[in-house]
Amino acid sequence: MKNLFDIHCHIVPAVDDGAKTMDMALQMLQMEYEDGVRSIILTPHYRREMFETPQEKIERQFALLKEKSEEKFGKKLRLYLGCEFHANMTMVDTLLGKERPTMGGSDYVLTEFSGATDFSFARERIYDLVSHGYIPIVAHVERYPQIRKDMGNLEALRDIGAYLQVNAGSILGEDGFAVKRFCKKLMKNNLLDFVGTDSHRTNKRIPNLGACAEYMEKKMGHDYTERILVRNPQRIIENIG
Ligand SMILES: [Fe+2]
Repeated sequence: MKNLFDIHCHIVPAVDDGAKTMDMALQMLQMEYEDGVRSIILTPHYRREMFETPQEKIERQFALLKEKSEEKFGKKLRLYLGCEFHANMTMVDTLLGKERPTMGGSDYVLTEFSGATDFSFARERIYDLVSHGYIPIVAHVERYPQIRKDMGNLEALRDIGAYLQVNAGSILGEDGFAVKRFCKKLMKNNLLDFVGTDSHRTNKRIPNLGACAEYMEKKMGHDYTERILVRNPQRIIENIG
């Protein structure tokens, strides 16, 4: 499939636990390109007391990467800056103060939780974002056992106004059978909105959207796959809720 979007990845070099060097970042872009990806929202971690790289440095690194990417791919590969924001009690203030970015300047916010997060905490953070005009995307929703154990939880989050993202590798079974089965159920119940690679490296946690697109087309059909991997992400860039 052509013109895929990757909306979750750690390719900006040397700002989090993702790509270590500019070279590695460019190799990851090459892998994305070969997979048919043409638009990428790069989402460095922001997590208090763990990933606090100054935003100015992230923007500098992103600008450098964008320059190199244009030398290599011209305008055929579009790069946008976002953030994977680990939820905390003051995240709305951080966003309103523009201390950390939304997804490509839109109202969408890629929101991550701790693995052990309970449903009510996640729901409250999501509600806070929505009530301030943001559009939360729950990052790799398959990773939170307390949320994924009940499809009603997923429906409730979407009813509040959140969108749900899973990782390509989880769909492909790289995170075990239970997670793979959960992803399938999410798709069959029409509760999935986005897929991202969450790629960090060129050797493990790699860009893998091509394989995922192929698998999804086989299981869910062309139109569904195009909606999740192309049309929904386009709405982020156009800032349509
Ligand atoms: Fe991530």
